[in-house]
Amino acid sequence: TKDGYAHYMLKEIHEQPIAVANTIADRLFNDAIADDFIGADAREILSQTKQIHIVACGTSYHAGMVARYWLEAITQIPTQVEIASEYRYRKPVIPANTLFLTISQSGETADSLAALRFAKKAGYLATFAVCNVANSTLDRESDECILTHAGPEIGVASTKALTTQLAVMALLTLKLAELRDVDIKVRKNLAKQLRTLPGIINQSLLLNNQIKVFAEQIVQRDHALFLGRGVHYPIALEGALKLKEISYIHAEGYPAGELKHGPLALVDDKMPVIAVCPNDELLEKLESNIEEVRARGGELYVFVDHKSQHGLKDRVPYLIEMEASGSFTSPIVFNVPLQLLSYHVAVLRGTDVDQPRNLAKSVTVE
Ligand code: F6R
Repeated sequence: TKDGYAHYMLKEIHEQPIAVANTIADRLFNDAIADDFIGADAREILSQTKQIHIVACGTSYHAGMVARYWLEAITQIPTQVEIASEYRYRKPVIPANTLFLTISQSGETADSLAALRFAKKAGYLATFAVCNVANSTLDRESDECILTHAGPEIGVASTKALTTQLAVMALLTLKLAELRDVDIKVRKNLAKQLRTLPGIINQSLLLNNQIKVFAEQIVQRDHALFLGRGVHYPIALEGALKLKEISYIHAEGYPAGELKHGPLALVDDKMPVIAVCPNDELLEKLESNIEEVRARGGELYVFVDHKSQHGLKDRVPYLIEMEASGSFTSPIVFNVPLQLLSYHVAVLRGTDVDQPRNLAKSVTVE
């Protein structure tokens, strides 16, 4: 049931704090990741891992993209991320000791399963999966499956599944960091961020009324651009995917540094530009990208935290300040208001939010 919410999507957005708490419970202790977090052989496999290939579709692919930033920056393990329907039809080179990892909510996505079946014969160290459905085909056919504990996701647009996939990928990053003896201070800090995540997601849900104000403006438009940089670039892609799939407004996500290589030509006073702008090492760069949009009359909607608001609050008409959450978990937190934004735009447009046209929850055919 929808528990009194108007749509499953809204219910599932609000379930995210508990879904994350359930996903990290019994897995994260102080700064250590439980050994039974994965299967019995996993420790050995992870110790031998020299590269990681992540393969997924849609929103789950965005989870992989975020994880790549974490894995390379924190564990220095070279990581590639690829869309399953592309991966399965090319001839990828697989260096020795490469771990294959699929990410999927349903565990039944045809292209992801085909990629796994290819990978099992291709000489990988092992095949791992991150999946929300126990006993799904992906769970059964992978060497090891780490379950997200999001609970059933009914809305076609994926929300809590992504958030818990990211929580699992954060745990996996921490496990690899532990096995590689990454500085304990760094690991402690990352673990602390993860533990505070449910509370911070809760805070971001309280921004609902402010987000509705953004939605009332954007609903009048036919297009939207989403911008982010670094680990927040995949969050911009995800924001655009959510908006297009449930509101049918054409939206694109861009790494903000690419603006002047083409998309800036689209910007005028009818183009809403939604930017994810936390205080991180790329803030100054993103500020100048925002300035480029402003100078061309683009309509700016910017999500900031307490530190990054300083440079922007006088220049940007639509600004929402988020609770700061630390650079590790920040992409997870900044994704939440984008989910709410798409939701409210779709409701105002009167679309079938939980069952958008032409889409299926589980894409079991190619
Ligand atoms: C978007 C969405 C899809 C799925 C994709 C993969 O909101 O839900 O893009 O993420 O079809 O599905 P899974 O994760 O079940 O493999």
